[in-house]
Amino acid sequence: MKTQYYTATSIDGYLADEDNSLDWLFQFGEIEEIEGVNEEYSRFIDQVGALAMGSTTYEWIIEHENILENPEEWPYEILAWVFSTRELPVVDGADIHFVQGDVAPVHADMVKAADGKNIWLVGGGDLVGQFHDHDLLDEIILSVAPVTLASGAPLLPREITTPPLKLTNVQQQGDVFAVLTYDVQQSKMG
Ligand SMILES: NC(=O)c1ccc[n+]([C@@H]2O[C@H](COP(=O)([O-])OP(=O)(O)OC[C@H]3O[C@@H](n4cnc5c(N)ncnc54)[C@H](OP(=O)(O)O)[C@@H]3O)[C@@H](O)[C@H]2O)c1
Repeated sequence: MKTQYYTATSIDGYLADEDNSLDWLFQFGEIEEIEGVNEEYSRFIDQVGALAMGSTTYEWIIEHENILENPEEWPYEILAWVFSTRELPVVDGADIHFVQGDVAPVHADMVKAADGKNIWLVGGGDLVGQFHDHDLLDEIILSVAPVTLASGAPLLPREITTPPLKLTNVQQQGDVFAVLTYDVQQSKMG
């Protein structure tokens, strides 16, 4: 069982632009139609048993897909945890836990719920950083899109240098994505 950060990113390490827009990503059309994307996503999601995201990401999904009016469009069948200090709108019928504070006890609950499958940290970057702060992040899978954004929501606002990440796989998807997979080497002693 792994805790994985799987996301698309710009070359210069942003998840979204300053207005939380993903137009830079959607300019490539139907992402699933890019060579290799569907296969890789299916392989990934089949192994996921629980997922977590921060409130900006959650609000982006529900606004972008108009999900409060069309709750059946909530994109995940997997149990989800959403981190927020605020009361957020609830999607009818979706399996979502709203939580706040220390990520460690939430991670323990997610591990139980995932029942041997992986945990997907959807983002944003600081939330993933909070899991990394507790040595709870095992793998990072980046679909690097051929754009630079110069500013926006950061991919992973932490210094991870020693030990460095370990590059375990590189895959090209069409002329759009370089998919880079890294193992996170735990820093704690013993
Ligand atoms: N490129 C991609 O594939 C991709 C993937 C993921 C996300 N995104 C986009 O990237 C952007 C990420 O936004 P973001 O950087 O603001 O990150 P985010 O993690 O989506 O949201 C951050 C917010 O989550 C809440 N939060 C985080 N940790 C918490 C904790 N421990 N306890 C309670 N609340 C906590 C806080 O808000 P409150 O307490 O105020 O609610 C915080 O301001 C979004 O626009 C999203 O759509 C893109």
